Amino acid sequence: MKLLEVKNLTIDFDGKKAVDSASFYLKPGEIVGLVGESGCGKSLTAFSILGINPPNSNLSGEILYKGSNLLSLSEEEKRKIRGNKISLIPQDPLSALNPVFTIGDQISEVLETHKAVSHADAILMSKNALESVNIPNPSQKLNDYPHQFSGGMRQRVLIAMALATEPDILIADEPTTALDVTIQLQILEIMKNLKNKGKAILLITHDLGVVAEVCDRVFVMYMGKIVEEAPVNDLFTNPRHPYTIGLLNSLPDDKKAVLEPISGCPPSLESIPLGCAFHPRCKHIQERCKNEVPLLYDVKDSQEHKSRCFLENPGD
Ligand SMILES: Nc1ncnc2c1ncn2[C@@H]1O[C@H](COP(=O)(O)OP(=O)(O)O)[C@@H](O)[C@H]1O
Ligand SMILES: [Mg+2]
Repeated sequence: MKLLEVKNLTIDFDGKKAVDSASFYLKPGEIVGLVGESGCGKSLTAFSILGINPPNSNLSGEILYKGSNLLSLSEEEKRKIRGNKISLIPQDPLSALNPVFTIGDQISEVLETHKAVSHADAILMSKNALESVNIPNPSQKLNDYPHQFSGGMRQRVLIAMALATEPDILIADEPTTALDVTIQLQILEIMKNLKNKGKAILLITHDLGVVAEVCDRVFVMYMGKIVEEAPVNDLFTNPRHPYTIGLLNSLPDDKKAVLEPISGCPPSLESIPLGCAFHPRCKHIQERCKNEVPLLYDVKDSQEHKSRCFLENPGD
């Protein structure tokens, strides 16, 4: 069963496409990675699932939650789902918490907004939420302010807040980026436990190491387009798209003395190349890549594996 299905999502600013016809889906009990360099459209995609879009953006496509299109719901109906059935852990934990309210007030407010619970019950549920992400002395911590928490603890508070309403879907936007390795692993452990409880998680990251650690399936994004999708093992053992291969080659590896970063930089939205957007950086460039956009072709002899590259289908 597909819990969430994003179909042909396009988000543009004055015709400049930051997300370009992206399609992907989540099933219960799986962690799906959305991977790509900074600026490729990951956060815009995450926010659009919650029905939040920059005012100067245009959006098209479908975002189906349990089969109904979130984009055609009223603001009020969207509010009932956002932060309740679908929660987001935002990219920046510090600015997401209000410095003048205690952690307990902030978590209980989410609960009182979405659930018909008394303040006393909301506080108790907030304590349980902190406990579920392994925050020590949760009763006491409820009365603390965000600045009294370390970066790792704040990230856990945001996860607790996102989970307090028991959402079906958790969207985590770069949840481990600012954290040291030990804390990263603890956060990933929390994600795995959620998955085992049947939650669907969209894990947004630029870090393929994190993907290898926890994801079941992966979507690789470049300049707003999905360029490769695969079960996680296939992506690492048989990467097909030259961009994915480039990302994998830039991963730190004990056996490689020197990293091989992808040459060049991602272009800006103002100057997305014609044809395959990756062609100026690609080692396998052919003439047609400069003016034809490749489709997402099925990878031969592989299940649920697709690559947006003419190498996959030379005869097309
Ligand atoms: N409000 C906005 N107005 C214009 N461009 C925007 C706006 N928000 C994001 N963008 C552009 O959209 C692209 C994707 O942004 P984003 O989704 O934040 O990338 P990521 O999360 O992958 O780093 C970037 O080029 C960014 O500059
Ligand atoms: Mg982002």
